[in-house]
Amino acid sequence: MIAKAKTIAEKLGLQPHPEGGYFKEVYRAEDKIEMAVLPKRFSGDRNFCTSIYFMLAGNDKSHFHRIQSDEIWHFYSGTALMLHRIDATGNYSRIKIGNDVLAGETPQAVIPHGNWFAAEVEVKDSYALVGCTVSPGFNFADFELAEQKDLCDKFPKHSDMIRRFTKECVTKP
Ligand code: GUN
Repeated sequence: MIAKAKTIAEKLGLQPHPEGGYFKEVYRAEDKIEMAVLPKRFSGDRNFCTSIYFMLAGNDKSHFHRIQSDEIWHFYSGTALMLHRIDATGNYSRIKIGNDVLAGETPQAVIPHGNWFAAEVEVKDSYALVGCTVSPGFNFADFELAEQKDLCDKFPKHSDMIRRFTKECVTKP
C-alpha cells in the first residue's frame, strides 16, 4: 500500500474487510426497524442506517458480493475506482466512482440491493477512499461473498470478469 494510503488508513482506524480492502464503520443509527415491517429478505431487526469508510489501494479488490439493502457509494479522495455490477437478471454494467465529473466519473452511485458488485482502483500506485451508506443498516447476515464457481455457473458470459473478482473458496465472515 502506498505511504499516503497507509497513513490515511491508520488515521481513520481502517481494518481489513472480508470482501477485500479496508473499512471502518462511522455511523450506526441507534433506532431499529423491526423485522416484522421489513421486506421478507431481512432475517431480523435492522438499524435505520449505517455508514462506513472504505478504502481500496493498489491491487486491492472488493470481491463480488451482494447485500440486502441498496448501498450508496460516495467518493472522498485518491483516484477513481471502477465498480463492476451484475444485476439479478445477469445484466453487467460498470460505474467509475470518482470526482472528475468532466472525465465521466460519478461522485455518488447507488448499487441496488441484490446486485452483485466488485471494485478496484485503476491507477495501481494510488488508492480510493469512499463512503458506503446503507439503509436498512448493514448486518453481516445480509452480506454474501460470491463463490467463484457458483457465480460463473449462474452468469457464464461474465466468467472472465467474475474470475478476476472472486476467491475460489469463500469463508463466511
Ligand atoms: N459495514 C461492514 N461492512 C460493510 C459493507 O460492506 N457495507 C456497508 N455499507 N457497511 C458495512
